[in-house]
Amino acid sequence: MIYLARPNLSGKEWEYVKKCLDENWISVAGEFIPQFEQKIAEYCQVKYAVATSSGTAALHIAMRVLNIGHQDAVIVPTLTFVASVNAICYVGASPVFIDVYPNTWQINTELIETYLLQHTYYKNGFFYDKDTHKCVKAILAVNTLGNIPDMIAIQRIANKFNLVLIEDAAEALGSCYYQDKAGSIGKVSILSFNGNKVITTGGGGMLLTQQKEISAHAKHLIHQAKVNGREYIHDEIGYNYRLLNILAAIGLAQMEQLPQFLNKKKEIHAFYQQNLVPLGFVPQKLTDGVSSNYWLSTFILPTEVNKQSLLDFLYQNGIEARSLWKPMHTLDMFCKSKYISHDNCAETIYSKAISLPSGTDISLKELQKVVDKIKEFVAKS
Ligand SMILES: Cc1ncc(COP(=O)(O)O)c(C=O)c1O
Repeated sequence: MIYLARPNLSGKEWEYVKKCLDENWISVAGEFIPQFEQKIAEYCQVKYAVATSSGTAALHIAMRVLNIGHQDAVIVPTLTFVASVNAICYVGASPVFIDVYPNTWQINTELIETYLLQHTYYKNGFFYDKDTHKCVKAILAVNTLGNIPDMIAIQRIANKFNLVLIEDAAEALGSCYYQDKAGSIGKVSILSFNGNKVITTGGGGMLLTQQKEISAHAKHLIHQAKVNGREYIHDEIGYNYRLLNILAAIGLAQMEQLPQFLNKKKEIHAFYQQNLVPLGFVPQKLTDGVSSNYWLSTFILPTEVNKQSLLDFLYQNGIEARSLWKPMHTLDMFCKSKYISHDNCAETIYSKAISLPSGTDISLKELQKVVDKIKEFVAKS
């Protein structure tokens, strides 16, 4: 099977993991955790990085450290992975879904402003949703598929409407927005090291911030909010969200290979683009100022090509390709939430987009096979 994106463990993973096993440091303490945090902080150009058990856990902690709760609402694109929205709900806040641009597939900043101007009222420095009366506290900007939304516009809107910017950079390690690294743009940003990401720890995440108090609070919360000292005293409701040393060891070895991984992702995307654009496949357009990590090469299919039939055909031929996420406003648990859109671009993109095998260990022969099989299918369509 040619997989969508599988871990590429070709560096010092074994060596570092062996060290953990040999020295008996496999759990929530050990030298690799601060080393991995520091490596990510340096790379992303942020002052503080807090390793967590997953990207979802980091998002949950982001909500907590920013004091977002059940009286609040958070603006989020409808085209994202469900974890972004689940984290909003974990703290009792309400998502407000915003449609995306048809070409970049990132949150539509004009629609964010439309929502704030037409659907909220101002009181004591904050903007409240006219229907739910929830305080609109934050924009959760998602760097979808390694692209990054128009952060200049988002930051301007955030300043104008007194909102906090949270950056979900789960998919975007290695991407840049002008001079800024993905993961450094939000007041709080997060990364994921899930198995299919550019670098992986098997499962894991990171919370990034420039602010010492936020980092200290995040560290406290992921340690069950335990007060320093030998007694078991906890001063608020916390979580067991720490990353294990043995996983941080893998993360460190992965970070050492990040430049090669990013080059390979670029080559994969260029290969698909060169072969598939002439067939009418349309790639994601990058937002101005973005250089992408090309996490997953994703294309909109020509009109005559049926998405499900192509996915099935590829699977029968030993190729794992996949659909994008069903837009969040269409999921049962979120369908009553507010959704701001002109023409439902997210649903159009969802109905026609597929992600192709993009793992950094894919060979040229495998890439050629993917393209050949797609050509074979398109010729029959
Ligand atoms: C946009 C986005 N946010 C959050 C997450 C959650 O990360 P994790 O799987 O590490 O919990 C992911 C991916 O997995 C994601 O793609």
